[in-house]
Amino acid sequence: MLKGKKALITGAAHPQGIGYAIAQKLAQHGASLVITDLDAKLLAETKETFEKSGFEVYTSQFDVTDFQETKSAIEQALKDVGPIDILVNNVGGSYRVSKEEMAYTHKELRPHAFTGILNIDIDRWHQLINVNLHSAFYVSKLIIPSMIERRYGKIINMSSVVGRKGAPKEETFTSAPYAIAKAGVVALTRQLALELGDYNINVNCIAPGLIRSGRGQMAQENMNPEDYNAIIRQIPLQRIGEVREVADIAYCLATDMFSYVTGQTIDVNGGTYFS
Ligand SMILES: NC(=O)c1ccc[n+]([C@@H]2O[C@H](COP(=O)([O-])OP(=O)(O)OC[C@H]3O[C@@H](n4cnc5c(N)ncnc54)[C@H](O)[C@@H]3O)[C@@H](O)[C@H]2O)c1
Repeated sequence: MLKGKKALITGAAHPQGIGYAIAQKLAQHGASLVITDLDAKLLAETKETFEKSGFEVYTSQFDVTDFQETKSAIEQALKDVGPIDILVNNVGGSYRVSKEEMAYTHKELRPHAFTGILNIDIDRWHQLINVNLHSAFYVSKLIIPSMIERRYGKIINMSSVVGRKGAPKEETFTSAPYAIAKAGVVALTRQLALELGDYNINVNCIAPGLIRSGRGQMAQENMNPEDYNAIIRQIPLQRIGEVREVADIAYCLATDMFSYVTGQTIDVNGGTYFS
């Protein structure tokens, strides 16, 4: 269904991550891939794994919070592989969002105390807004002109359930700037949908709840079982989600199956929140 389409997915190198699962799903349906990440080692390993599966893969390593670095990398990618049909702005998170943190595995990074507006460190605020919101704005701004030229494009942004409802104080693996940035991603989605509809570009968003990516697993491993079970009990489907369940929605949004859907945020959260 995606044969002949080129998909660029940011933050797709981590084999347990949502971006990786989306890239894999799109490639299984025929798309050729441009995968980007900050982590050069994981990126090289993922390229090798994907190529062994017969996928066509181009990789680009850059820090998506740095506009100049992102601009050079995207311009080079467009020169090397040509225009992009599907853009998945997946990069984000509350951990492993800087070069220093890349040195740690998910297991080594411990959830910190809840960081709200009153106790957030200013640098961390900027870092989290950059990686979760500015990243999607930067990459979209650089890719959209070639979509406009061809009157075709699918953009999929990644928000979070906390971007829909706010970050509760008892959740130690999230934070206020993360929730605010992810709410910004929902707003960015609506704005782009309004600006790009007449160019036949669909812009949608996915807002996952707790998903068993590396990060979801870390939350499980590092919380005391009682707290973890209390979270699970609050999820109507009584379990955390799998990366596949996010990738399946991304796949639908990337195809023409959802061609009359734009500006929407799809909640993939086991029923934790609905609007
Ligand atoms: N896992 C969840 O429970 C969950 C829930 C809601 C939303 N999300 C969102 O889904 C997306 C993917 O989450 P995940 O759990 O798979 O995360 P992950 O940490 O497994 O993957 C994120 C990827 O982004 C890369 N990255 C981080 N900072 C970067 C930077 N500055 N420049 C380039 N690459 C960078 C990392 O190396 C990693 O490969 C994120 O936007 C996250 O906020 C995840």
